[in-house]
Amino acid sequence: MSLITMQNKKIFITRRIPNAGIKLLEKQKNFQVEISPHNRVLKPKELLEKVKGVDAMLCLLTDKIDGKVMDSAGKQLKIIANYAVGYNNIDIEAASGRNIMVTNTPGVLTDTVAEHAIGLILAIAQRIPEADKFTRAGKYKAWEPMLLLGTDLKEKILGIIGMGRIGQRVSEIMSRGFGMNIVYSDKFKNSKYKKVSLKKLLKISDVISVHVPLIPETHHLIGKSELKSMKPSAYLINTSRGPVINEKALVRALKKKQIKGAALDVFEKEPKLAPGLAKLDNIILTPHIASASIETREKMSIMASKNIIDALFGKKPKNLVSK
Ligand code: DGY
Repeated sequence: MSLITMQNKKIFITRRIPNAGIKLLEKQKNFQVEISPHNRVLKPKELLEKVKGVDAMLCLLTDKIDGKVMDSAGKQLKIIANYAVGYNNIDIEAASGRNIMVTNTPGVLTDTVAEHAIGLILAIAQRIPEADKFTRAGKYKAWEPMLLLGTDLKEKILGIIGMGRIGQRVSEIMSRGFGMNIVYSDKFKNSKYKKVSLKKLLKISDVISVHVPLIPETHHLIGKSELKSMKPSAYLINTSRGPVINEKALVRALKKKQIKGAALDVFEKEPKLAPGLAKLDNIILTPHIASASIETREKMSIMASKNIIDALFGKKPKNLVSK
């Protein structure tokens, strides 16, 4: 038996997540787990209040975790476990400066997000939401040779911006399954596919899918001039982070038919949409649900909780993103 007994540890979860992870935390003898009673994003003031005295925080991408939140928690705060692979909502420098570990949930959501990106590609190219709306509205009178013509994907060029795990998975499926030719742009040469400059990718691709993290260098990576350099027949897909695309510029480009269409799961100022975006016909919008499968959300909850358990037991968590 160990001579050192662990003191009680307080864990705060900012919003209910799937049970698997919560159960893991609650099973630990000395853990006191509190889950926000609200089924909504906590207001900044509520968050500051709720984190007081906690040893670990399990937060969501909708929670802005800055130095103020960390200080409100107190010096005992050991870990901030983000329930997402992207962690642009957390001030990593502020955490490192306070010796707080930050973790994310990589890998477990790769397939699900890739499948959603592909769903959006197919839906926009084949005009599925438009066709659904048309049929429900009773407009289908007879088969027509020119009705709702879409675009084939086979042998077209798919440009992947950011060849990380998700970009790689989208590429595999779209090249092997759909016969698309893949090009990508990335800081690194990290794939068997053809690496090109972003400028070239924008110019030659028929479909462009964005898979970069949101960091200062990727903010508004796609803006007015990038949209202008795309083919008028091209589609733009984004399942990464909204601010990577200048949404106002995208609305303008879609209105002017500078590009053929877009499909977005993420938005610049979530949950708000840029003025005019929702009125366009040549766009598909989904509410940041690319990782939202039952299986994946469960795996994310287990992963985030394991990171907390490791940290509170003095081990290095597997998915550490802070220094
Ligand atoms: C992530 O994990 O970063 C996703 O955006 C969540 O769906």
